Amino acid sequence: MRYNAGQAQTYWWQQGVIYQIYPRSFKDSNGDGIGDLPGIIAKLDYHTWLGVDAIWLSPVYPSPMVDFGYDVSNYTDIDPIFGDLAAFDTLVAQAHQHDLKVIMDYVPNHTSDRHPWFIASRSSRHNPKRDWYIWADPRPDGSPPNNWLASWGGSAWEWDAATQQYYLHSYHKAMPDLNWRNQDVKEAMFDVVRFWLDRGVDGLRIDSAQRIIKDPQLRDNPPNPDPNVTAYKPLGDYNSQLHLYDKGHPDIHAVYRELRQLLDIYSTSSPRVTLGEMHIYDWPQWARYYGAQLDELHMPLNFGLVSVPWNAGAVRHLVDSVEAALPPGAWPNYVLGNHDEPRVATRIGQEQARVGMMLLLTLRGTPTLYYGDEIGMHNVDIPPQSIQDPSEKNLPGIGPGRDPERAPMQWDDSPHAGFCPSAVEPWLPIAPDYTQVNVAAQRADRHSMLSLARALLQIRRTTPALAVGSYTPIDGAPADCFVYVRRFENQRRLIALNLSDDEQQLQLPAMGSARILISTHLDREGPVDLASLHLRSDEGCIIEVAE
Ligand code: GLC
Ligand code: CA
Repeated sequence: MRYNAGQAQTYWWQQGVIYQIYPRSFKDSNGDGIGDLPGIIAKLDYHTWLGVDAIWLSPVYPSPMVDFGYDVSNYTDIDPIFGDLAAFDTLVAQAHQHDLKVIMDYVPNHTSDRHPWFIASRSSRHNPKRDWYIWADPRPDGSPPNNWLASWGGSAWEWDAATQQYYLHSYHKAMPDLNWRNQDVKEAMFDVVRFWLDRGVDGLRIDSAQRIIKDPQLRDNPPNPDPNVTAYKPLGDYNSQLHLYDKGHPDIHAVYRELRQLLDIYSTSSPRVTLGEMHIYDWPQWARYYGAQLDELHMPLNFGLVSVPWNAGAVRHLVDSVEAALPPGAWPNYVLGNHDEPRVATRIGQEQARVGMMLLLTLRGTPTLYYGDEIGMHNVDIPPQSIQDPSEKNLPGIGPGRDPERAPMQWDDSPHAGFCPSAVEPWLPIAPDYTQVNVAAQRADRHSMLSLARALLQIRRTTPALAVGSYTPIDGAPADCFVYVRRFENQRRLIALNLSDDEQQLQLPAMGSARILISTHLDREGPVDLASLHLRSDEGCIIEVAE
């Protein structure tokens, strides 16, 4: 089976690797224990050294920080915690000098309840901005208008005593949902897009992209026949329903087509990209967000690798299903970790995290690399008094707490890992093993996770077969191995991954002479006989096969 042929003509967002920065946790420049824009600017050399192509910043807008920036109170400014617009402009200019693109988080589904739009909207039923949010009357018994639930617990409706109606919030009650069916909202939010694209931003990561258009009749969601089977992750009562009506109404596609037209206008000067956060694991459904004519999102984000059981059969099945679902010409992408999910090194273990890194950086499609995963950062234990995450506070103990994967970046072995001055407390605790697990130590260790990540990025960048080539899975490998070929013109690379801690013996089809280019153990290279390829526990290899 061979999927979409390699493409010669590609954009930066297809060839490139995206590095996600959680700004609060990357580098503190002014000694308040919270990362900021000057901190990121100071580390741009690191991104160039590492070999990534773009940085995506989680939100840096003014915000009451109920959800650490995903509750925006002004879409066209920077929160003083992070800096100001001048610092942002400097960041974009310097990133571009470093040959790095900048992707901004764009949060269209909801604002903060402190946003002037919402303050106006809730001030009276007759305010011109009333319809900018989703307001509805109670049912006759006074209860919420329907059974929709917030992701972080309880009804998605909050009663407003002053105006005697409920407003909708898909997440926290301090994050009311905008009404994208209102044309003025759409225009105002498209103006926000223009504002950042005019400032030179190269792309948008669209938060909660599937949620912005709901059922206009506000119908009740049906019950989930098997709440134990969750599409995504444990979210308490939220998983007791099938979310048919509270997101993803078909009218959403017209909005994304229009947004794409806006992006396309800007792309004539330099290509811009939209990545949509999309928790859809039914791949044909997910693929619809590319648009029937590839005229919607450039890439709906693919979180399959985040929730797939970590075994070779399941991972291959996922990749094959994604490839099969892609409309012709659509470009795939893979996410292995982010600010909402447990660290990959915790999920699958430090040894397999190296195999995961090789997988992420050799699959066909744009990889997103979460800060710190390149040094194997793991979930950090958060003592109860240090919990920050609103989802953990609302739903304690059921698992979605997100502080553990948001701990500060570990730069070196100085106090607070070089993230902030020793005299201040970082906003979240630093991993206790930072004296060993840090960028400086791993730069000096040629077998480290960081050395592996950097070598893989370098190989990907210089190998068209990996950057843009086709993907063909190879049958007949041992059950614990995932083997595939990437090909561009005559260039072929075989990737053989052992997803177990047992040794494996592979008899691969004769492909002529072959040479190991890199092993995840970083200790072997050179000729190899594919008729009897031996993989050690937790080992993956990239192998050059004859042209
Ligand atoms: C997305 C973000 C998450 C945020 C939520 C609400 O899922 O990734 O961090 O809490 O949207 O904006
Ligand atoms: Ca700071």
